Amino acid sequence: MIYNHNLTLGFCPAPPLTPPEFTLSQDQKFFDMYSIVIIVVLLVAFLAYLIKIYDLTQEVYVSDTTEIQAAVAERIRPVGQVNRSSEEQKSSAPIIKISPEPIATAMTGLEVYNTACIACHSVGVGGAPITGDVTAWTERIARGAAMLKNNAVQGYIGSVGYMPPKGGRPDISDAEVEAAVDYMIGEVEL
Ligand code: HEC
Repeated sequence: MIYNHNLTLGFCPAPPLTPPEFTLSQDQKFFDMYSIVIIVVLLVAFLAYLIKIYDLTQEVYVSDTTEIQAAVAERIRPVGQVNRSSEEQKSSAPIIKISPEPIATAMTGLEVYNTACIACHSVGVGGAPITGDVTAWTERIARGAAMLKNNAVQGYIGSVGYMPPKGGRPDISDAEVEAAVDYMIGEVEL
C-alpha cells in the first residue's frame, strides 16, 4: 500500500505566510520611518562630502604660498627674454629695484581751487564771491592781489561773510593758496 502522508495526517491548512496583524499600514509606517532615516543619513553624508571638497579646494585657490606664487609667475612669464651676453649672465648681480620716492609736488592754482575752494566759490556759499563773477571781484581785485592772497591765507571776515584760512585746508601751503587766488583773479580778467 502506498503510504499517503496527507491522508494519514488529515487536512492541515498551510499557515498564513504573514502574521495577520502585519497589515499594509504597518508596512507603510516601516517604510516611512526608514525613508526618514535614509534621508538623514544621505544628508549627513552629503554635508561631509561638501566639507571635504571645501577642505581640498579652499587651500588651493586662496593660498598665497611661495610655491603657488612661483607657479603663477612661471605660467604668466613672458615668452621672450632679453638676450644678455653670457658674461653678463654669469656675473649678474642681484637686481636691485629702484623705486623712486614720490616727490611731493606743489599743486597748481587750478588744482588747489578744485580741491579746496570750489565748494564755496563756485556757487557763492555764505556770500563767497563767485569765481568769474566780474561784479563781485572788481572791487576786491582793486584792493590788490597781495591783499587778496593774504586774506585767503590768513582768513578774512568781510562785509558779506567769513572766508576761513586757506579755505579750511591748513595742509595746503601758502604758495599753493596764493596760486589759487591768482587762478581766481585770472578767471575774472578773462
Ligand atoms: C567755506 C567757504 C569758503 C571756502 C572753502 C573758500 N572760501 Fe574764499 N571766501 C569765502 C567767503 C564767504 C568770502 C567772502 C568774504 C567777505 O568778503 O565777506 C571769501 C572770499 C575770498 C577772497 C576775497 C578776499 C578779499 O579780500 O576780498 C579770496 C581771494 C578767496 N576767498 C580765496 C579763496 C581760496 C583761494 C580758497 C581755496 C583755498 C577759498 N577762498 C576757499 C568762503 C570760502
